[in-house]
Amino acid sequence: MAEESEKRFDTLKIHAGYDPKHHNYASQVPIYQTVAFGFGDSERAERLVNFKEKGFSYTRVGNPTTAVLEQRIADLDGASEAVAVGSGMAAVSYTLLNLAEGGGRIISASNIYGSSFDEFRTLFPKFGVHFDFIDDINDRSQVAAAIKDDTKAIFVESVTNPDTAVTNVEALAKLAHENGVPLVVDNTFPTPYLFNPIRYGADIVVYSSTKGISGHGEVVSGLIVDAGKFDYGNGKFKQFEEKEFVLGNEGESVERSFVEAFGTKAFAARIRVKYLRLFGAVLSPFDAYFVLLGIETLSERLAKQVASAVKIARFLEGHPHVTSVHYSGLPDHPQHELVNRYFPRGVGAIFAFDIDGTEAQTKKILDSVKIFSYLPNVGDARSLIVNPGRTTHREIPSANRQKSGLTNTLIRLSIGLEDADDLIGDLDQALNKAFE
Ligand SMILES: Cc1ncc(COP(=O)(O)O)c(C=O)c1O
Repeated sequence: MAEESEKRFDTLKIHAGYDPKHHNYASQVPIYQTVAFGFGDSERAERLVNFKEKGFSYTRVGNPTTAVLEQRIADLDGASEAVAVGSGMAAVSYTLLNLAEGGGRIISASNIYGSSFDEFRTLFPKFGVHFDFIDDINDRSQVAAAIKDDTKAIFVESVTNPDTAVTNVEALAKLAHENGVPLVVDNTFPTPYLFNPIRYGADIVVYSSTKGISGHGEVVSGLIVDAGKFDYGNGKFKQFEEKEFVLGNEGESVERSFVEAFGTKAFAARIRVKYLRLFGAVLSPFDAYFVLLGIETLSERLAKQVASAVKIARFLEGHPHVTSVHYSGLPDHPQHELVNRYFPRGVGAIFAFDIDGTEAQTKKILDSVKIFSYLPNVGDARSLIVNPGRTTHREIPSANRQKSGLTNTLIRLSIGLEDADDLIGDLDQALNKAFE
């Protein structure tokens, strides 16, 4: 929206995608808790089911509450369109299948979220989609050497979990485009407040909005955001160029392909029409409302959480039993220049540290904290603690874990909204118990 793009982030996070005059002037976005919507008349029904008119007929394909969320995230990311789905994993899976369906290869960083890695390594190959994993995704020559004729996309996380390594999105977007493939960025950790991948050339952004975007640990959800600039008619993506029965009427000359019907906006359209409509991992309107509520305070939450994270990371750096703090937000981190360039508001509130002790001592820390909650999530208003090697990243083979310093003594923190000094006190007493 031209007029929306002139507004700043904090205005968009409250207002984008919602016009109260179309909703009885309700101040808050109403929850349309309904399965279906009347067609009105038979001619409108035809236009709606052929996707020739925008509107709502069935909540699995679209819903007015969810549509506000989709437009809001698209505006925050400077994108053309977004599709909300039932989880972050659904966002990752649908995006990559939409690109490589029917067979092909995807280049991915090897240092990614455990379930994504497990899916790429063990499940996608069963659908004919194979992955080339790159250890150093910022090494252009390694990535370039992996590009083959049937490569369909490059997939990265903007900030990795749990070691907060930062990806050089602009350089990778350039390389991807030189080779006719889109760049997909999982931007879950920074959220749109800390980083905008589309500004640096990414074509598709995916989120687990279960995390910092919603921010209160109460809703599983995912978002697929399409910059709307990539040409899927470049000959590499057959599925975007074949005539689709669903976009016309069988046997009539009006049958169209996704590229013909939607041009450079074909990606998001195809996610909705093929994946959401047919695979069906839809987000409920009630859950979409929760995500919208979370977005209203995104900047305020992240600003405080990042400041606390830096303070806590500094405390840990100075602790005699902490051997390393994995946090690219610290000024002496080797990626500091890249962080300064891409993340002027900070790199995030999630980081990890290691101790000079045993796994039993790590367990003692986990069992001794009183404010931190020990659970497998991030991006909550509450501070969270976990041992990723034994839980969230268990699926990653040990050889890969070793390469990224993911030991069984490593502890990941997700800093919430509590007082930073209380959190430091909590970690201090837990470390003291473990080493007494
Ligand atoms: C970077 C990243 N991507 C995707 C996911 C999957 O999200 P969800 O749990 O909403 O399916 C996660 C979950 O932790 C994640 O950390």
